Amino acid sequence: MAQPGTPIGVAILGCGDIVMTQHLPTLIAEREARLIAVCDVEEARARKAADISGCDYYTTDHRRILSDPEIAAVFVCTPPWVTPALTMEALRAGKDVLCEKPMATSVEKALEVAAVERESGQLLQVGFTYRHGPLMDALQSWIASGRLGRPLQIRLSLFDEVWNPEGDPEHYGRILNTLRHGPPCLHDGAHAADHLAFLTGASPVRVTAQGLKTRPEFPSPNYNSANIAFDNGDQAKLEVGWFLPHFPKGEYQILGPNGMAYLDRSNAEAVLVTDSITERVQLSEDRIRSCFRAQLAKFLACIRERRTPVPGSREGIASLRLTQAIADAMAADAPITMEREERA
Ligand SMILES: NC(=O)c1ccc[n+]([C@@H]2O[C@H](COP(=O)([O-])OP(=O)(O)OC[C@H]3O[C@@H](n4cnc5c(N)ncnc54)[C@H](O)[C@@H]3O)[C@@H](O)[C@H]2O)c1
Repeated sequence: MAQPGTPIGVAILGCGDIVMTQHLPTLIAEREARLIAVCDVEEARARKAADISGCDYYTTDHRRILSDPEIAAVFVCTPPWVTPALTMEALRAGKDVLCEKPMATSVEKALEVAAVERESGQLLQVGFTYRHGPLMDALQSWIASGRLGRPLQIRLSLFDEVWNPEGDPEHYGRILNTLRHGPPCLHDGAHAADHLAFLTGASPVRVTAQGLKTRPEFPSPNYNSANIAFDNGDQAKLEVGWFLPHFPKGEYQILGPNGMAYLDRSNAEAVLVTDSITERVQLSEDRIRSCFRAQLAKFLACIRERRTPVPGSREGIASLRLTQAIADAMAADAPITMEREERA
């Protein structure tokens, strides 16, 4: 158990893009945590992460990290087809884990991870980073307090991973490989599915979806769109697109009978518009950095207080149920009916 006032010893498994751009700078700035070690199967990546963070312990062997008693928690930041095995191994080794989203590429695998979490008694948080912080709290509280009325129509679109094979071949290869493990709705869509659960507080019950491959060589449809019906009458329209050379700014709007709310991601603000009022919540710092900091603070607090993290495996599985239903509906070109989730 972490002693009050003593930083929690942590390590990172997988030193790729998201670690170098977000997790590392966030961890380095956090006094409640002490980064002890970094690990990657590619030695050069582990060494680079060690150099940048000033931590002199890097390795290509994750077992060294999992057997180190000074390390209480690990961040599993590997691709999602690798993440479940490492997460289960870390939990069994007595570590608390923050694993990146999606926690697996299938519901079955995620259920296996959740079973190991239960058996081990360790804590597992899932990296749904952008549900943390004041902007999402504002949107959720405007909805929950009835300011928009019900039912809601939520419109979310996310476009990312610009198609630029010649200009950035490393990125092209990495994203092409990710598409071999499922369409973008399963990867970036994991965040969106978590947002829909967080905002509606409801279970998805019916999904229709369509996929498009804008180039024949892509292993799965790179443009995905879905309509989702929830058990409380809310509806959502979701679009996730990768590998387009140019794309629009994504939408994030929530429409109700009494008003609308939206998230302006680039201006880091949430806005509520009704007949009588316009209310704004704005961050004074970069939204992504702020969400990573809030996510880390929540994880460390859960470790100190031995509290089940939210979002944890329950939310990770719920997100995967929806994104897998979208992928299945796309593949079958037919609607999918989902069973209502059991509420805690
Ligand atoms: N929370 C967020 O906002 C966010 C944003 C981007 C990516 N992600 C997620 O983070 C994860 C990583 O994404 P990325 O873009 O950094 O990918 P990446 O491919 O750049 O990095 C993954 C790293 O894991 C390493 N690796 C693979 N197998 C390993 C093993 N067995 N042991 C140790 N290291 C291993 C790879 O060598 C690579 O350096 C993905 O699941 C992705 O969905 C989350």
